[in-house]
Amino acid sequence: MKLPEHVRLVDVGPRDGLQNEQAIVPTDVKVTLIDLLSDAGFPAVEATAFVSPKWVPQMADAADVMARIRRKPGVRYPVLTPNMKGFEAALAAKADEVAVFVAASETFSRKNINCSIAESLERAKPVFEAARAHDVRVRGYISCVLGCPYEGNVDPGKVGEVADALHRLGAYEVSLGDTIGTGTAGKTQELIRTVGERVPLESLAGHFHDTYGQALTNLYAALELGVTTFDCSVAGLGGCPYAKGATGNVASEDVVYLLQGLEVETGVDMTKLRRAGQFISDFFARPPASRVARALNARDPLP
Ligand code: HMG
Ligand code: MG
Repeated sequence: MKLPEHVRLVDVGPRDGLQNEQAIVPTDVKVTLIDLLSDAGFPAVEATAFVSPKWVPQMADAADVMARIRRKPGVRYPVLTPNMKGFEAALAAKADEVAVFVAASETFSRKNINCSIAESLERAKPVFEAARAHDVRVRGYISCVLGCPYEGNVDPGKVGEVADALHRLGAYEVSLGDTIGTGTAGKTQELIRTVGERVPLESLAGHFHDTYGQALTNLYAALELGVTTFDCSVAGLGGCPYAKGATGNVASEDVVYLLQGLEVETGVDMTKLRRAGQFISDFFARPPASRVARALNARDPLP
């Protein structure tokens, strides 16, 4: 088995993590968190979402966040844009990368973005066109790739179909979201093999939520098959407001620890990452969800 030399990690904590928090997080706290993550060495930090503030109040300050972050050269700050309204606002905020999100399950699509899968792909078309015209990269997300909170099992063939549609529309990368974290290693490999027949592996990313404690194992299962980009969330922040009980993404600290052990390069500095995790955990007055962060903090407290 040959693992890659390098893996690209996208920290999605400031968006996927914070969007699920009930208490509104002040803009300054979000900005500091994003700056700490870019300093830690992530090549991409998903900063915020230009979605309806009625649907996700936590992201109402998206433009302010984008105006105040310190953009580190070479780092990308993707933002979610579900429609043209979101795209135009993202463009005005000088976003250089946007993400559209669709689901592999009809019921989830309806609950999350109030339309069918086919309609969501239609809605995404003008976003892709406008993005191309403005030289903005587009990432595509698919939710519920390994299970849906409403429909249960999801057919990997359906995920392949949606991934192919996003890739053809112009997504440079399709991130496969196990939104509710029910996936297991075998199912993850079946999914990667099926989707990989339609979209090149180098254009796929893994986005695993840790609700059932399987995220790190699923990430490794995907890594074994040649996926080299993964989403993760500092301190394991996260969830999804439209997937009841869903918990955070796989914790960034746990992923970096795993990859360090495998001698796979990520460019992320563990101490700086732990500092970012401590900052946001202190804000919420709770310990980080990352087991690695907790273990390292106990053994070797941060100064
Ligand atoms: P809708 O109600 O069907 O849309 O929402 P609408 O076009 O009828 O608009 C309704 C109102 O929202 C209007 O305002 C619009 O102006 C406004 P009103 O006239 O009532 O005052 N509006 C907007 N405002 C700001 N920004 C916008 C925007 N669009 C419309 N972009 C819509 C459709 C998609 C907007 C809505 O359903 C929505 O915003 N949903 C948010 C969904 C969301 O953010 N979910 C969480 C992120 S996805 C996720 O977490 C999964 C992921 O992590 C992968 C995984 O884990 O699976 C990515
Ligand atoms: Mg997610």
